[in-house]
Amino acid sequence: MMRTHRGGELRAEHAGQPVTLVGWVHRRRDHGGLAFVDLRDASGIVQVVFHPDSAPEAAAVVAEVRSEYVVRIVGEVALRRPGTENAEMPTGAIEVIAQRAEVLNASETPPFPVNQETSVDEMMRLRYRYLDLRRERMAQNLRLRHRIVKYMRDYFDARDFIEVETPVLNLATPEGARDYLVPSRVHPGHFYALPQSPQQWKQLLMVAGVERYFQVVKCYRDEDLRADRQPEFTQLDVEMSFVDEDDVLDVMEDLYARLAGESAPQFAIPSGRFPRLTYQDAMERFGSDKPDLRYGLEIRDLTPLVTDTEFVVFRSVITEGGRIRGFAVSGGAETPRRGIDALTELAKETGAQGLVTVAFGGEGTLDGLAIEDVRSTVTRFFSAEQFAAFGGACEAKRGDLLLIAAGPDALTSKVLDVLRRRVAEDRDLADPNVLAFAFVTEFPMFEFSETDSKWNAVHHLFTSPFEEDMALMTEDPAAVRSRAYDLICNGWEIGGGSIRMHRREALMRVLARLGIEEQEAIEKFGHMLEAFTYGAPPHGGFACGLDRTVALLAGERDIREVIAFPKTKSASDVMTGAPQPVRQAQLVEAHITVVAPPSV
Ligand code: AMO
Repeated sequence: MMRTHRGGELRAEHAGQPVTLVGWVHRRRDHGGLAFVDLRDASGIVQVVFHPDSAPEAAAVVAEVRSEYVVRIVGEVALRRPGTENAEMPTGAIEVIAQRAEVLNASETPPFPVNQETSVDEMMRLRYRYLDLRRERMAQNLRLRHRIVKYMRDYFDARDFIEVETPVLNLATPEGARDYLVPSRVHPGHFYALPQSPQQWKQLLMVAGVERYFQVVKCYRDEDLRADRQPEFTQLDVEMSFVDEDDVLDVMEDLYARLAGESAPQFAIPSGRFPRLTYQDAMERFGSDKPDLRYGLEIRDLTPLVTDTEFVVFRSVITEGGRIRGFAVSGGAETPRRGIDALTELAKETGAQGLVTVAFGGEGTLDGLAIEDVRSTVTRFFSAEQFAAFGGACEAKRGDLLLIAAGPDALTSKVLDVLRRRVAEDRDLADPNVLAFAFVTEFPMFEFSETDSKWNAVHHLFTSPFEEDMALMTEDPAAVRSRAYDLICNGWEIGGGSIRMHRREALMRVLARLGIEEQEAIEKFGHMLEAFTYGAPPHGGFACGLDRTVALLAGERDIREVIAFPKTKSASDVMTGAPQPVRQAQLVEAHITVVAPPSV
């Protein structure tokens, strides 16, 4: 046997026992003639002591080892002398007195310290990911990810869901993000697409009578990458038959509440059910479909208060059908000039013409507000009473600051959302120890794409519109609500799903609205249209981003911190060098001619 114990598991009750340990030299210290090695294995770290008098050979071996050497140590567990225990370490009550030591493998000096959580250049970390993963934070994240996946599998298993694997080589579909394509050798010029999600397969499993499906599954999307997006990522994918929205949302809520409580108990979750807000409500109050509900800064409509204003900016916006909206920053009146300038600049970068700011001086309510108490970019256009009314609408008091944007709703929402997030960040309003889960429901079914000048599905084309909105499909597609929902938390979209269409006619109508002609519909979705004619049950489901879930529960801001081998923001793997050109023979075999972009 290589070892008798795992070092990180040794405790006071092992004192007096002979042990053989293996692991990495986490740290070596020489102290008063003794050598100390912190020996690390996957279970943790244990201190090993080398006495040159009683074990001269072991001491001689250890004198030569450096950080990250792999060693084997034979010795005996002993209680540490009183006063030298380390309460911070699970093994801190004991140490191992070495009798023999052997180097199993040497190590080059690592390009960055493995035994410290110092900040290291991202490219360096990815280039030597196997060393980065030895570091404590990353090792913890990997373990947390494993526990979360296990929790999910057990959760669904206990509720009669079955995990079914679905194909990775698929038919490319015209909707959604860009596909990753795989050439077919046996069908020259033909391509598979990697799944953006197993959406169609899971619906076909409902037609197949499975009723309760889940899968922890890799998905691939060729899209612009950000902190919460990777080209390949993992979903917890779920589908259920004979359900409506509440059935699905209840499962998601129960799972996430339990999962968070179990695997990240350090976080508080506000008591009661997860709040549910409609898309319209979310956009109206927060300007975003994934608001961070850990803070208020709620947006209010000020339009009714300024309908006959002389202020030309507001007037022309209102004439063009836009609105004046804003929110109050409690205690924000103290914001210095350069702070206001920075917010104004941010609003402009986001597309606003400008930003109206109103600071209320003094303390207490806005009753009896005098114009001298108001510091604003628009003092000459409004009376003290009007300013007090703006403040009243935003539930402000003296000492507060109003941030007001004017324009079409899409613009003011975007600008106020960005401002809310900046203000919350600057003022530390989001409690890092809280998970504020919520559901956003009733998303619009269609959105108009200026680039393609056609209507696209907001969620995906199998999502069911509300029955009562179907009539609007021709004359007012923007007003059609869908039965789609998202799970959000702390400003992240964690998951989403919908109740689906399960009848052929309904799907055909939606496809027509999306500009997919009957011929194309049959070519691309014929299998779905056909399946729906064989007694497809009503069904719905959801998919959650596993990477985002783990990052959230690990307190990480970037999903790369919870993925063993992630890609860079330009979708490459700096360790292996993928992607790379392939040999000409491989291209010929796959019937591919490479057309290099002009710049190459
Ligand atoms: P959707 O496209 O909303 O829905 O994806 C579901 C969840 O997957 C995660 N996600 C990502 N995570 C990391 N990197 C990415 N590039 C990425 N893209 C998406 C998000 C998102 O909420 N089939 C439907 C679900 C359904 O209707 O059942 C779907 O895929 O957390």
